[in-house]
Amino acid sequence: MRYDPNTSWIKFATPGIKSLLLGGCTALFTVLTYWLYLLSIRSTVGITTIRMLIDRSTPILYKTCRISAVIVIVCLLYALIFKLTFTPAKQIQYLVIKKIGLPELGNPLGLKDGELLPRVKCCEKSNGIYKLIISAASTSIEELINLSPEISTCLNTKKMCRYAVTQHTADIALNQVTYIIEDVTVHHELVVENVSDLKSDKVTRIKIQDNTSIDLKSSGSILMAGKTRSGKSTAVISMLLQVLSHGRDKNGSEVLIIDPKQAELSRLPHVVTLDADGEARGILQAIQAYADSITKRQARLNALSEGKGDAVKWWTAKMHPSFLFIDEYVAARTIFPKKPEKGDEAYCLATFDRNKKRVVTMGASAGCYVIISIAEASVEEGGLPSMIKSALTTKILMKPTLNEGRLIWDSEKIRDLAQRTYTSGDAWFSSTDGIHESVSYVHFPVMKFKVYRELGRLLKAYYKTAPPPERSDGRRRGR
Ligand SMILES: Nc1ncnc2c1ncn2[C@@H]1O[C@H](COP(=O)(O)OP(=O)(O)OP(=O)(O)O)[C@@H](O)[C@H]1O
Ligand SMILES: [Mg+2]
Repeated sequence: MRYDPNTSWIKFATPGIKSLLLGGCTALFTVLTYWLYLLSIRSTVGITTIRMLIDRSTPILYKTCRISAVIVIVCLLYALIFKLTFTPAKQIQYLVIKKIGLPELGNPLGLKDGELLPRVKCCEKSNGIYKLIISAASTSIEELINLSPEISTCLNTKKMCRYAVTQHTADIALNQVTYIIEDVTVHHELVVENVSDLKSDKVTRIKIQDNTSIDLKSSGSILMAGKTRSGKSTAVISMLLQVLSHGRDKNGSEVLIIDPKQAELSRLPHVVTLDADGEARGILQAIQAYADSITKRQARLNALSEGKGDAVKWWTAKMHPSFLFIDEYVAARTIFPKKPEKGDEAYCLATFDRNKKRVVTMGASAGCYVIISIAEASVEEGGLPSMIKSALTTKILMKPTLNEGRLIWDSEKIRDLAQRTYTSGDAWFSSTDGIHESVSYVHFPVMKFKVYRELGRLLKAYYKTAPPPERSDGRRRGR
């Protein structure tokens, strides 16, 4: 089909509407012929030639009347069947074709007379989520990418008005753009009454909401950004509770929580916080021990791989994931002396940074992850080197704003995310797990139980089987 600036709306009407129109006109025609038929059989005209004409036309009128009545029924039936089978995917497809091709709707692609209209196809991707593909014909990929808001606004029928484009991706060959369209008013959040409802079905999976989870097999460490009270700690706890619920493995898996601000988390068993003298030697040693545990696990995996003659992944070696959660990362960094003190050279910021870099970059292959929580999303200002930031391949921004989002993702990636007022627990999320490459909106679980108490209980149960690493002062963590 080509663009025609003088085209009428009829060309872009759905087959159902066209069929109704045809049925309506045929119904009028039927009524007219039936009226003529009645006139002809009741006619009392005496003039022979006219009488003959009327007598001859009566059966023709009757036949025409019957045929057109059948056409009306067929048209109405077709329109009915069309309406019943008019899925939201088809509806989106028609609305978008109309938006692009019907001049009175604004010609959003700026097409010229005779230019090819792009091909539009829509199908249901998963329950209530639609995939719309528009192939570039006379248009550039940039123009198609800019079409996202126009697509959202053209979905203005009673059934589709809650739907909007939430993501878009251009294919590698730059031939087409795929838009993800979903009902933006539907809440997918998990509301859990107790901690067992939160447990994921697989140890390699962490649930975020009912249609989103993190697959640890294909993702890396996590950046958790967001202003104060945005729900960072609660979101991380919802993830750690799932890891803890699966228990500890026999290869020294760890769930190490570091609370440098001596806040709520620091009161829980097995959480590492500042030493009694306000220093962070315990924190440094715990991170060092975590880094060493990665080396041990990797060595075990390497031995298994050698034995098998092929790479053995941590999940096939029956390992459970390890997590190091540094809450309030910026606060943690400020505690360390910038220069090492005499006699205690290891206790300084450089050692902290080195260990952190080691765990972030080396951990994932041994199933060891890091979650860094940070209040400022900016790269260097927040103290998070850009290299580490890019190594944190799962990115979460709590209670997001466009400005903060731009510090984490390309502006391009967050363009479709509706600008609305977000509350605590709302987040933008992306991961390199192959499914969540595009940034999407999520809401972290709403936990209707005593979260900190359950976290403490699970931490105790987790470490019951084996003692946690010793601190520098000889005491065990959490005692
Ligand atoms: N998933 C959620 N759903 C609903 N409300 C939430 C959710 N997560 C957190 N909240 C609310 O937000 C408040 C702040 O949460 P949280 O302490 O986790 O934020 P934070 O970003 O860690 O804050 P801080 O900067 O003080 O450490 C909680 O007390 C809770 O009321
Ligand atoms: Mg917090």
